[in-house]
Amino acid sequence: MTMDSDTGFLSQYGRLSAEPSPVARMMAAFAADFRDDVDINLGVGYVNENTIPRALFEEALHEVLANPRKYRVALNYGGPAGSENLIESIRRFHLDHGIGGLTDDVLARKRIIVGPNGATSLLEGIAHVLKPGIVITADPIYYIYCNFLERLGYQVQAVAEDEQGLDTDRLEAALRDMGDRRRHIRFFYVVTVNNPTCTVLSNERRRRLVEIAARLSRESGVAIPVFFDKAYEHLLHDPEVESPRSALLYDEEGLAYEIGTLSKILAPALRIGYMIGPPGPLMKAMVQKTSDAGFSAPLVNQEIAGYLLDRYVAEQIRKVNAGYREKSAATRQWIDSDLGPWLAGCRGGSAGFYYYPTFQSIETHEASAFFRFLSRTTGDPAVDGAAGARNPRVAYIPGQICVHRQGELVDVGRRQLRLSYGFEDLPRIRQAIHLIKEAAEYAASMR
Ligand SMILES: Cc1ncc(COP(=O)(O)O)c(C=O)c1O
Repeated sequence: MTMDSDTGFLSQYGRLSAEPSPVARMMAAFAADFRDDVDINLGVGYVNENTIPRALFEEALHEVLANPRKYRVALNYGGPAGSENLIESIRRFHLDHGIGGLTDDVLARKRIIVGPNGATSLLEGIAHVLKPGIVITADPIYYIYCNFLERLGYQVQAVAEDEQGLDTDRLEAALRDMGDRRRHIRFFYVVTVNNPTCTVLSNERRRRLVEIAARLSRESGVAIPVFFDKAYEHLLHDPEVESPRSALLYDEEGLAYEIGTLSKILAPALRIGYMIGPPGPLMKAMVQKTSDAGFSAPLVNQEIAGYLLDRYVAEQIRKVNAGYREKSAATRQWIDSDLGPWLAGCRGGSAGFYYYPTFQSIETHEASAFFRFLSRTTGDPAVDGAAGARNPRVAYIPGQICVHRQGELVDVGRRQLRLSYGFEDLPRIRQAIHLIKEAAEYAASMR
C-alpha cells in the first residue's frame, strides 16, 4: 500500500476532493503558463483591480489601529459571531441605504453573523450543519458550491432558470414529479444575480420561493430553509432593472436567510461575508462552525470593513457600478457585432460582470474545436503558433461545467460559455471577443 494511491483512509468527501474539480483543473492548466501581456483571462471571477479602494484601506487600517477604545484588540482573536462594530455597520448599511427595502422593524427580529472566510465559508457551514439530502437550486448552477455539496454527499436538483431567475412553475412541476422524494429536500440555494448567467432573480420569484419552501416545510413537518446568495446584488448597474426586495420581508415562517459579501464592492481579500436571518438553532450552529473553522474572520479585517461601510460605501458602490456599466455596454456591443450571427441568445449585462452567450451550433466544451482554438491546443501550428511563441489564448468557462449534468440544460450547455468582463481591461476584452469570433469560424470550418 502506498499513501499516494490508497484512498481508503479518506472520507467520501476526502476521496472526491483528492481529484481537482473540472474547473479547478482547467484553471490550473491555464494559470500554469499564463502570459500576462499575451493571454486573456475571461474565465476568472476576479473583480476589477481598479475598483479596489487601496487608499481607503490604508486609511482604515491606520484609524482602526489608532483607536483601540472603539476597535478593541483588533490584531487578536475575535468572537465567533463577528465583531460587534461590524455587525452594527452592516445593519446601518442596510437601513441607511434602503437595501432590499429592509426596515428597522424587520432587522430587529433578525440576527446578523459574520463568517470566518467570506460568503464561501458560510455556504460551507450551511452544508455542514444541515442534514445531507436534496438541495434545490437554479440551472445553470453556481458550479463551485454545487460541486462541493455533491462531494459532501448532497444531491443537487437544478431547476432551469428563465429571464426572471429560477423558474418556479418548473419547480412546482419538478416537486410533483419527485413525489415521496420531496421529504429528502433539505434546503433551497438561490443566487440572486446568478453565477454564471448574471440573471437577476425577480422580486416575484423571491416571494414565490419563500412561499413554496413554507408549504414544503408544513408538508414534511421540518423546516426547509431558503438561502439567498446575494454575492453580486450590489452590482446591479442597469437602471432599468427593478430594485431588489429582500426575501426577509416576505418570510412569515422564519425560513429565509440572506448571505452577503463585501468581496465584490470592497475587496475579495477582506474575506468578509455575513448572513442575516431568523435567530435560532441554525444560526447558533453556524456560529459554532465559525469557531471550529478558525475562531472568527480576522478581527482587523472586520474592523476595517466596518470603518469603510460607515463612511464610504455609497460612493464606492456608485463608482464600482459606473465602471462595470461601461464595460458591460462595450462588451455587449462587441459580442453583438462579432458573434451576433453565430448566437442563439446571450444572458447577462444588467448586473455582476458575466455574459453568458449561447451559440446556435458551435460547441464550447473542453473537447471542442472552439475550445482547442482558444487554448491553442489544436496541434496545428498555423492556429496554435510556433513552439515557444504560442498565439494569444483566451480562457473562459465552458457551459458544460455550468449546467447540472442531470438537468434539462445538458445539451444546450455544450454550446454555452461564461465570459467575465470583470478582470481584464477593455482593449483586451475587445481583442478576446475578436479571437472568439475567429474560434467560431475555425470550429465551423472543421465540421
Ligand atoms: C455566487 C457566489 N457566491 C459567493 C461567492 C464568494 O464570495 P466570497 O468572496 O465572500 O467568499 C462568489 C464569488 O465569486 C459567488 O460567485
